[in-house]
Amino acid sequence: MIVKLDSINKYYRVGNSTLHVLKDIFLDIEQGELLAIEGPSGAGKSTLLHLIGGLDRPSEGKVYLEEEDIYSFNDSSISRIRNEKVGFVFQFYYLISELTVLENVALPLLIRGESKKKALDLAKGVLDFLKLTERVSHYPNQVSGGEQQRTSLARAIVTEPKILLCDEPTGNLDSQMGKEVLKLLQDINKERGTTIVVVTHDRDIASWMQRRAYMKDGMLVNIKCNKGG
Ligand SMILES: Nc1ncnc2c1ncn2[C@@H]1O[C@H](COP(=O)(O)OP(=O)(O)O)[C@@H](O)[C@H]1O
Ligand SMILES: [Mg+2]
Repeated sequence: MIVKLDSINKYYRVGNSTLHVLKDIFLDIEQGELLAIEGPSGAGKSTLLHLIGGLDRPSEGKVYLEEEDIYSFNDSSISRIRNEKVGFVFQFYYLISELTVLENVALPLLIRGESKKKALDLAKGVLDFLKLTERVSHYPNQVSGGEQQRTSLARAIVTEPKILLCDEPTGNLDSQMGKEVLKLLQDINKERGTTIVVVTHDRDIASWMQRRAYMKDGMLVNIKCNKGG
């Protein structure tokens, strides 16, 4: 098991009222699985994904990543764990516009302290794998939405994370480009054994995953396995 969520609650204080955004969530994620987290807008999917990846703190409960209670550490240790073990892909890519595709992908390795040569070599390899060889010198605004998302995917996997967390990764793409990104997620899962969690409100996308967890009003209401998964 790579992730264990133990009785997670999350509250946000907004003005004078308190929003109960995640309600007593228990979830185990197995090493190497492809899991969809589905549910309508506002259900709490992004909040849950952020908690799994060390981007936010639960109000109550524990998040174990490879048996480590990640929120028992201080913020800089959590950042280090995130850089070592987690990759994130977001709907809006969040590429740095002043850096080329290649430099964007090399950045997490430079942050980790790799040499510039090694970072660029590894980034180049991942970009080849994601069929972006021809785009390495382009800036983000010089490539298509699908290519920007593949670049953000390359940036997320260049560090060889144990777990890849994707928040509506195809939400901004047309269906053809969306399918290509999903196909790549499946390839990454198969070839590298990376555990992948995909948040989506799209049933078609969820049907590509091995297991589907449904959220509603901050609760995890159902988990089921897809056929063949
Ligand atoms: N930083 C925040 N402060 C206050 N409320 C928030 C914050 N982030 C999310 N929420 C609220 O928490 C609920 C769940 O949000 P979110 O996890 O983004 O849902 P989803 O990703 O399923 O659309 C929503 O009602 C949202 O408005
Ligand atoms: Mg969301």
